[in-house]
Amino acid sequence: MAEAEAAEARPPSDVSILFVGDLVGGNGRRTLLDCLPILRERYAPRFVVVNGENVAGGLGITPKIADELFAAGVDAITLGNHTYHRREIYPYLDAQPRILRPANFLRSQPGHGFCVVENDGQRLGVVNLSGNLYLRAGRSAFTEVEVALRELGAVDHVLVDMHAEATSEKVGMGWHLDGRVTAVVGTHTHVPTADARVLPGGTAYITDVGMTGPRGGVIGVKRDQAIQALLTQMPTRFETSEEDPWLMGVIIRCSRPLRADSIEQVLMPRPLPAEAAVS
Ligand SMILES: [Fe+2]
Ligand SMILES: [Fe+2]
Repeated sequence: MAEAEAAEARPPSDVSILFVGDLVGGNGRRTLLDCLPILRERYAPRFVVVNGENVAGGLGITPKIADELFAAGVDAITLGNHTYHRREIYPYLDAQPRILRPANFLRSQPGHGFCVVENDGQRLGVVNLSGNLYLRAGRSAFTEVEVALRELGAVDHVLVDMHAEATSEKVGMGWHLDGRVTAVVGTHTHVPTADARVLPGGTAYITDVGMTGPRGGVIGVKRDQAIQALLTQMPTRFETSEEDPWLMGVIIRCSRPLRADSIEQVLMPRPLPAEAAVS
């Protein structure tokens, strides 16, 4: 079904949100760009949000890459523990409202942790959080999310990216926000989990959506280098793998404000050049 027809067929209040897990390197960026036209036709998402914390060569993001993602129709970019790897992004984080670093970083750190994007009269609030276990975040995700939700103001939907190592913190955040936001999606581990569901209060939840990039590596790194580092326990040069690129994300469908009807995993190999060209 063409995108326009898909948009016409759904009820006016029907909103779907495509969230895509950590883009890893140029491979992840190109995989997203090749998959997006197919996913737009398949799901007609009203909003597209991606986590971009690894998109610049595996660590961080640059203004040029962020601009390229926005030009491709991405509505908002979330980040995580690799936010500040590239210095050139610091002023951009303050100037561009639609790129987020975790809201529970220190207030003194560049950037901001939430935004509102509007498409076809629907307002989506996006909140980025960092877990506090095994990651450096200056303030509690659980207290700072309250501030972010209050300051978002009137919105139709809220998507929270909980970027965290510990499954306990992510599951806890899902329950904490159940019935108050549209979706809580986990990122950071680069491995998708099998627990996508709508919680009883109506919040879509998944512990980790996975990553977008080379499935043939070790969470994005060339596997020989990763195995060498694990074997020798010595500093090893890490490069982004190019093998077996996949897009990993979720599609969240909604027909009432701040509640989800469904959450479905999207696990898709990068299309071959001929497939990408015809879509
Ligand atoms: Fe990541
Ligand atoms: Fe991360």
